[in-house]
Amino acid sequence: MKLSRRGFLAVAGGTGAALTLTNCGSEAKPAQAGELLRSKAPLPEPFKVPLPIPPVKKPIRTDTSADYYRVVQGKASLEILPGLKTEVMGYDGLLPGPTFDVRSGRTTVVEQVNELDVSTVVHLHGGHTPASSDGWPLDLLMPADGDHSGHHMMAGGDMKMGSRTYTYPNTQRAAMLWYHDHTMDYTAPQVYRGLFGLHIIRDDEEDRLPLPAGDREIPLVIADRAFAADGSFLYPAAKDGPGVETSYMEGVVADVTLVNGAPWPVHEVDAVRYRLRFLNASNARRYELAFDKGPATFVQIGSDGGLLDAPVELRTLVIAPAERFDVIVDFSQYQPGDEVTLVNKLDNNANVLRFKVARKATDDSSIPAKLSSCAVLPEPAGVVRRKWLFHRGNANGHQGWTINGKAFDPAVMQAQVKLDQFEIWSFVTDVHHPVHVHLAPFQVLSRGGGKPGGYDAGWKDTVAIRPAEVVDVLVRFSAHKGKYLIHCHNLEHEDMAMMAAFETI
Ligand code: C2O
Ligand code: CU
Ligand code: CU
Repeated sequence: MKLSRRGFLAVAGGTGAALTLTNCGSEAKPAQAGELLRSKAPLPEPFKVPLPIPPVKKPIRTDTSADYYRVVQGKASLEILPGLKTEVMGYDGLLPGPTFDVRSGRTTVVEQVNELDVSTVVHLHGGHTPASSDGWPLDLLMPADGDHSGHHMMAGGDMKMGSRTYTYPNTQRAAMLWYHDHTMDYTAPQVYRGLFGLHIIRDDEEDRLPLPAGDREIPLVIADRAFAADGSFLYPAAKDGPGVETSYMEGVVADVTLVNGAPWPVHEVDAVRYRLRFLNASNARRYELAFDKGPATFVQIGSDGGLLDAPVELRTLVIAPAERFDVIVDFSQYQPGDEVTLVNKLDNNANVLRFKVARKATDDSSIPAKLSSCAVLPEPAGVVRRKWLFHRGNANGHQGWTINGKAFDPAVMQAQVKLDQFEIWSFVTDVHHPVHVHLAPFQVLSRGGGKPGGYDAGWKDTVAIRPAEVVDVLVRFSAHKGKYLIHCHNLEHEDMAMMAAFETI
């Protein structure tokens, strides 16, 4: 069993890769934090594959207060690139996994069965979840009949063999959460190979709104991947242990953009309003989504943690890893026969997804001026302040990423936080870091000393901090005592130790 490195690469001396693709000094065009990984397989023609919609998971049993599910984590051979097979590690063998579509206040109980050959951990991102089900990175689910001598064996957690049951109370407002792997040191490769899916919570407040629904509500999970010549996933894992090759420690950005698991797909829409629910499930890539031709804009109605107070109109959507944006797009501004493409402006307008406007249709949806009453919290008196510094770090000659100068150590609680206590947390960075907090959502109070940015509205659980920036957020934890995490959601940074534990008391 290895307990030593916690994801730090044993590269003696060297400074590692330069910050090649990070911000070049221009505020207007922040580039990617990451290193491009190119496919060896021929890239498919864009807009040939229809957009898949992940299937909604059916409970195996329900009672008055809970729904019970069973998910099998397994390998499957999927045709992601036309004509080639890719072996994925997926929930129910799918990429993305099945979507949980659940009611606020009803408990979701998920038995996860591990039929892979590596251990896993499941985390519900955005969930207000008891610590025992939150996916602590050492609470491993070991394969039922795997080889248990491998590097995934780590001491100090609550280990289970074959199957483990996670309980999610869903005592929170309607929002699109997602679940994904959280295995210590191996989250990045395991999410990359397919261990991610959606968990949508609905409630009466949201159901009362006349928003587009049914097949006019579309989840869009964006993730970039690279493929070997035989169609298998390419991932630059470190040769000698956890983490990624040193040259990719900025993050892996890849050259094929998958939406709901399909490369640059195409989707036919009616000329009406649609509700598009975006998740950036990429390991490291950021997107600034825009339509290649007007006039459509994005009317943002929700954020990571559910509905905004009021809609916000945005020309483009900047979305960092793990963030969600819930938007309405009105395709009635186009003519039947028009094609409109979502592109990534941070990447020379690279393709993401195409819509084909098929026909006129009736539309009884609308966007109310008042969406919700999630009041912006006034800054409370007697608030506790903490600073979290996200920085590249050197520890004994090893390259990695640190929080407050420390590599992740599951035995060290960097903070003890009282339940129901308001706190203002300041996130301070060197390069781009999407910062994520478990257990409670937060509101952005200020960015760079000024007002919150254009993408900071509402309740967030992940906030993109740009190079050398300070973002203050107001947070208050409630209900659950235990060990939780704050970390960078650039998954290469996370695996290379940019994670810290705190304890709610
Ligand atoms: Cu989405 Cu701690 O993770
Ligand atoms: Cu999380
Ligand atoms: Cu980071």
